[in-house]
Amino acid sequence: MAFDAPAGRITPDELLARKRGEPIACLTAYTYPIARLLDPHVDLLLVGDSVAMVLHGHANTLGATMDMMIAHGQAVMRGSARACVVVDMPAGSYEDTVENAVACAKRIMRETGCDAVKLEGGVAIAAQIAAIVAAGIPVMGHIGLLPQSVEKEGGYKIKGRSEANAEALYADARAVEAAGAFSVVIEGTVEPVAAEITRRIAIPTIGIGASAACDGQILVIDDAIGLTVDRVPKFVKEYAFLRDTVSKAAADYARDVRSRAFPGPEHLFSLNKDKA
Ligand code: KIV
Repeated sequence: MAFDAPAGRITPDELLARKRGEPIACLTAYTYPIARLLDPHVDLLLVGDSVAMVLHGHANTLGATMDMMIAHGQAVMRGSARACVVVDMPAGSYEDTVENAVACAKRIMRETGCDAVKLEGGVAIAAQIAAIVAAGIPVMGHIGLLPQSVEKEGGYKIKGRSEANAEALYADARAVEAAGAFSVVIEGTVEPVAAEITRRIAIPTIGIGASAACDGQILVIDDAIGLTVDRVPKFVKEYAFLRDTVSKAAADYARDVRSRAFPGPEHLFSLNKDKA
């Protein structure tokens, strides 16, 4: 079964060709309206398993399920027409066997119509990446800090600080590249190591907390627009402050309702029309 790139979208191959070219702008998206708003501006939308934390309130990304990723993947596909859409494979869907990895990747592609899947890990899951690519499915890798390993690692730890860890990351990057991935996310990794990986491999590196040395950047959308209500990572630049906007709108709305300043049915449609 071939998984043809949806017509009109930026393809994984086009992103691969951007290595050392124009930096690749990526954001996560989980819903239809956010996909509609971001699609004209960015190259790639990632339906990240961070959705489990950002939208569902789980403590970490281990709360993501296949059904969750597929439902959000479908919403983002409905809301976008231009960007390359990548859907994360949730923890438990690919690590154990190559067969399960391929079956889960095929299910995500079939049920969402997205352009590619993303998996966390390097050398340890290179066989899974190679098998998914061999099944005709483009793969984005993810190395460095791996959020799905948070329990195994006992927290979120910056990578590349020791010589031994830097060497392990170079091996991971090469393994992901050799397995046929079209790009690789580098998360939470010190700049000299992210820069060296970017220099050594021929596929684009997409940094998150890994410096401007990478071939592109990805941020979690709620962090970027100032909507994150818990902890915002230190490296994030907030481009808007929607926490304050939403909170003020809710307070203004509640005040209007309590003073009975809300319209009747005769205004139902004119209200929106007047604003258009
Ligand atoms: O799930 C996610 O949002 C991600 C990004 C942090 C790259 O994997």
